[in-house]
Amino acid sequence: MVADQPFAEPVPGVAKSDPVLVVDGVTRTFGGLVAVDVGHLEIQRHTVTSLIGPNGAGKTTLFNVLSGFDNANAGEWHLNGGSLVGIPAHSVARRGMVRTFQLTRSLARLTVMENLLVADQHNPGERLRGALLGGWGAAEADAKERAAALLDRFGLSTMVDEYAGSLSGGQRKLLEVARALMVGPEVIMLDEPMAGVNPALTQSLLTHIQTLRDDGMTVIFIEHDMDVVQEISDWVVVLAQGAVIAEGPPSSIARNRVVIDAYLGEHHGDAAP
Ligand SMILES: Nc1ncnc2c1ncn2[C@@H]1O[C@H](COP(=O)(O)OP(=O)(O)O)[C@@H](O)[C@H]1O
Ligand SMILES: [Mg+2]
Repeated sequence: MVADQPFAEPVPGVAKSDPVLVVDGVTRTFGGLVAVDVGHLEIQRHTVTSLIGPNGAGKTTLFNVLSGFDNANAGEWHLNGGSLVGIPAHSVARRGMVRTFQLTRSLARLTVMENLLVADQHNPGERLRGALLGGWGAAEADAKERAAALLDRFGLSTMVDEYAGSLSGGQRKLLEVARALMVGPEVIMLDEPMAGVNPALTQSLLTHIQTLRDDGMTVIFIEHDMDVVQEISDWVVVLAQGAVIAEGPPSSIARNRVVIDAYLGEHHGDAAP
């Protein structure tokens, strides 16, 4: 990074050439607190777009709303042109957009394989019993095959019959991503997947995330570590007090005065140039 380069000031609300997700006027309040107030945001298809911002900026709440785990007070958002307003999470997943959670939700008392099978779109929760007892034929064989391939990809093959509760924090994060991938999503939203992951797994997780993009997915990625954000992102969106205050390529974001004031100032030494 060139130290004497002028400060770039990327503005929010930038139109994209091929947006997969378009967000308009989405607000979410809790009592008097405005957690999310996003005017206009477009996510370009086939990118890793990082969502950054200080604690409490509304990043998780925005994910919750967009993925159907929470309701907006107002606004619209469209996936491939189709409105997702009022669509519950499992239907959003079927339409191709899934998310992982900041705190992993893997089911500790199911095995690694069972965790993937219950996440499968052809095997919704109410059929869990059938899934675990077996006997659903071709669909099961297909799901098991996809699950095994995902476990292999994430280095979890040897854990296939272990209880999820016995995995390390980092392995649970990988399992969480694998679970999300069972539905064959087009857009995957990852809420701080690196948090609590040991350095040995961090690089592998980063590589996996870039591979998802290279395989044709769109990744929206909440991350605190600016080095990671710089390394992995095609585009960075900065949220502060619920609003998008800037967006741009990672290099421009790191030089953005508004961002430095709102965010990097809190994280001295993390990344500010
Ligand atoms: N269920 C809730 N009830 C009340 N306040 C909430 C709730 N969820 C989030 N908030 C508040 O909304 C704001 C945004 O939170 P969050 O989306 O978790 O931020 P981030 O993920 O950026 O750290 C915070 O002030 C948080 O305390
Ligand atoms: Mg959060």
